[in-house]
Amino acid sequence: MDKTLLIIKPDAVKRNLSGKILKQIMDAGFTVLGMKMLWLNKEQGGKFYEIHKGKEFYDWLVNFISSGPVVVACLRAPDAPQKLRGVVGATDPKKAAPNTVRNLYGTSVGENVVHASAPDENPQREIDFFFKAEDLYEY
Ligand code: RTP
Ligand code: MG
Repeated sequence: MDKTLLIIKPDAVKRNLSGKILKQIMDAGFTVLGMKMLWLNKEQGGKFYEIHKGKEFYDWLVNFISSGPVVVACLRAPDAPQKLRGVVGATDPKKAAPNTVRNLYGTSVGENVVHASAPDENPQREIDFFFKAEDLYEY
């Protein structure tokens, strides 16, 4: 799989970190095939994160992801999902490796500035959630 989905979450967008985060990710070798800003409502947020339904943090997560605008991007690189998870770091910023995006900017296990598709959780489904095929540019 050479494509993955990145979401710059509302905490990072509100803190004006979108540019810094994108620069770090693009400098790591990713090409942006499509990108947009949008504000999810709770229904859309709940659907996107339906894999977490039933977990104790689900309601919090749905509220959080719909609490402000997000930037979503479809990124291309060899082994994109795995590679992006490496650049982003562990879920908990305190446990994320030094200089990963979450280590640099995350403030808590929930407010961890970005989402990156998990390689084993169908990255294509997440890309399709936000982008039509014709809205992605191969260049
Ligand atoms: P993501 O899906 O956002 O890339 O993050 P992830 O795979 O590293 O973490 P995941 O287990 O999929 O959790 C999704 C998001 O839910 C929030 N979360 N809060 N309070 C908690 O214990 C907790 N655990 C997860 C985070 O925003 C996490 O990124
Ligand atoms: Mg996840």
